Amino acid sequence: MPVITNIEDLRVLAEKRVPRMFYDYADSGSWTEGTYRANEEDFQKIKLRQRVAVNMENRTTATKMVGLDVKMPVAIAPVGLTGMQSADGEIKAARAAEKFGIPFILSTMSICSMEDVAAATTAPFIYQLYMMRDREAMANMIERARKAKCSALVLTLDLQVIGQRHKDLKNGLTAPPSPTIANIINLMTKPRWCLGMAGTKRHTFGNLVGHVKGVSNMKSLSSWTNEQFDPRLSWEDVAWVKAQWGGKLILKGIQDVEDAKLAAQSGADAIVVSNHGGRQLDGAQSSIEALPAIVAAVGDQIEVWMDGGIRSGQDVLKAWALGARGVLIGRAMVYGLGAMGEEGVTKALQIIHKELDVTMAFCGHTNIQNVNTNILLPGTFPTA
Ligand code: GLV
Repeated sequence: MPVITNIEDLRVLAEKRVPRMFYDYADSGSWTEGTYRANEEDFQKIKLRQRVAVNMENRTTATKMVGLDVKMPVAIAPVGLTGMQSADGEIKAARAAEKFGIPFILSTMSICSMEDVAAATTAPFIYQLYMMRDREAMANMIERARKAKCSALVLTLDLQVIGQRHKDLKNGLTAPPSPTIANIINLMTKPRWCLGMAGTKRHTFGNLVGHVKGVSNMKSLSSWTNEQFDPRLSWEDVAWVKAQWGGKLILKGIQDVEDAKLAAQSGADAIVVSNHGGRQLDGAQSSIEALPAIVAAVGDQIEVWMDGGIRSGQDVLKAWALGARGVLIGRAMVYGLGAMGEEGVTKALQIIHKELDVTMAFCGHTNIQNVNTNILLPGTFPTA
């Protein structure tokens, strides 16, 4: 067993252990993958200022995200097909998040249903919703989230049509995988994964199958999105979701200052500056580059979070310094899960927390609440 010391180690192990189509699904951006790469690369350009001879004892990274107490300003991002990275993956990730003290966000496109996750955890989780054509199914889904005692709803705004990820088409992505020769050959090299899947009945879209009508291929993510997600989504629909739900609402997928202003006016509790991990509009700027202008425009009216490119605790600290009051981690969680199940997600969270905490100390701080752009080297970070 290799010694795991960083997120890249988990990625390498996940690549070995997870069937090709699901590993590729996570490790993909749309078209040229330029935005996917920029999300990570732009973090690397930001330089930190080292400070010395400052008391570094008794540090804390604790804060609140939409009023929820968190051990660090990180939540697990909603990731489709998480339960295909490892059997019952959403339950494993939710348990790891609960034990660690950060929120878990369950995707609409998950394998375990919200009822499954609610039954397997005690801390409330957040549910992520896509606007679908079938409003009755939407209302029903919001009601189910209420019954599952979800603490907040994330409405994703940037996937009403789907960006093309070449590998998913080439691999013929479905959940579960179809029994083609290529898939069978690949699965034969993943005994650990197969054994896990043989031990669970959760093999397809648990939140949707049996609840939503009018999809030609129930196993296909692209059929769901193309046939069910509503391309007419508007700010009136956002207001409708807010009224149906009545609880905390987070709007995910904001990249533009004008949209951020409309989101702030919508009465939502938080926004997530996001380009969907570079999986939607390729050619869009990276999330960390988009963040400062949005914080400057609406940061005093609405809580601003971000996602995209977070692979270390240093990235979390940089995003925080630039005004994000929380970040979401998708791939870092997925790699941990694919590598080592629940234990791997816990490992990913421990790695990120330690990097965050020690970097904060190097930058001369003991409390994350006091960290701002002063820790960043002028001229190396994006500004409004
Ligand atoms: C779904 O959210 C995806 O990005 O595949």
